[in-house]
Amino acid sequence: MTLKTITMHWTGNSLILVDQRKLPHVVENVVCETYQQVAQAIKDMVVRGAPAIGAAAAFGYVLGAKQFSHLKGEDLLKAMQQVHDTIAQTRPTAVNLFWALRRMREKFLANHNGDFVNVLEQEALKIAQEDIETNRAIGRHGQALLKDGDTVLTHCNAGALATVDYGTALGVIRAAIENGKRLKVYVDETRPYLQGARLTAWELVQLGVETILICDNMAGWVMKQGKVNAVIVGADRIAANGDVANKIGTYTLAVLASKHGVPFYVAAPTSTIDLNVKDGSQIPIEERAHTEVTHVGNVRIAAEGVKVYNPAFDVTEHELVTAIITEKGVVRPPYDVNLRKIMGVEV
Ligand code: MRU
Repeated sequence: MTLKTITMHWTGNSLILVDQRKLPHVVENVVCETYQQVAQAIKDMVVRGAPAIGAAAAFGYVLGAKQFSHLKGEDLLKAMQQVHDTIAQTRPTAVNLFWALRRMREKFLANHNGDFVNVLEQEALKIAQEDIETNRAIGRHGQALLKDGDTVLTHCNAGALATVDYGTALGVIRAAIENGKRLKVYVDETRPYLQGARLTAWELVQLGVETILICDNMAGWVMKQGKVNAVIVGADRIAANGDVANKIGTYTLAVLASKHGVPFYVAAPTSTIDLNVKDGSQIPIEERAHTEVTHVGNVRIAAEGVKVYNPAFDVTEHELVTAIITEKGVVRPPYDVNLRKIMGVEV
């Protein structure tokens, strides 16, 4: 079976990814025929966004299984551990990566004496298909929080490109529009990697949504002017207490939203909820290359010799989060109780 969306195309023998480093100027693909190539693509941000990373990891695991399908017993187990670890070591913050790999590994261990390649391919396709349905459900639940005529502010890219399709935060916006609501969207450019300017603005303009691009440092002033009715962002990992790790700058937005009485919503699948981490302080925060800060694109903007700090994510404490929109419904505080409930874990 195959699967084809704007973000990824599984051909049965390869994973073809739209190269998100080059959008929106160039629409070009990267073809991955090995698990190593998928791992590199995740690391290099060819594919990014928590749910998209999870699905790509699952297909990468399938490619690894195909590469090692001639092995048996201990040799096979060892090789597949290597596949798992290589993919797991790409990016540390988005828990969907580890969630998808866990699902794949469980299937492998239960089937390694049988037709495991086929079983794993079915599981990866299931993860990808489920993601699309999940995002549509997030959209259905979330759109009820928006009114006709509202203006939403979003950060980074939590759209179709960050998922297998449809998006989480952008899924909510899309669902509201599909329900006949007229919305305007402010998009933070999202320095340093510019996912907002390059990816979110591109997606929304293509969808025909009135889209206003702002630099990140304009968000406070825009809120102060009363121009924003809701902030909606995605998430890379949500701790058991409701603390949310998301793209750097999200925390600043949450503080600003609180100051200006604007509701701050997080839209994410339950696969982004990590009940194993008690609070946000336990979430590993990826630090990326200094050149992302010293350069814009390939152009150096900062003096040679300057020091740089480049955390790719931040943590917004749960007190600042108005609600978390999942495929199972809208979760409100107290998150330590209600996240467990929605995950079906005894409280
Ligand atoms: O570094 P990125 O581009 O992978 O970061 C993406 C984000 O922070 C998104 O907001 C998050 O993954 C949710 S995507 C539905």
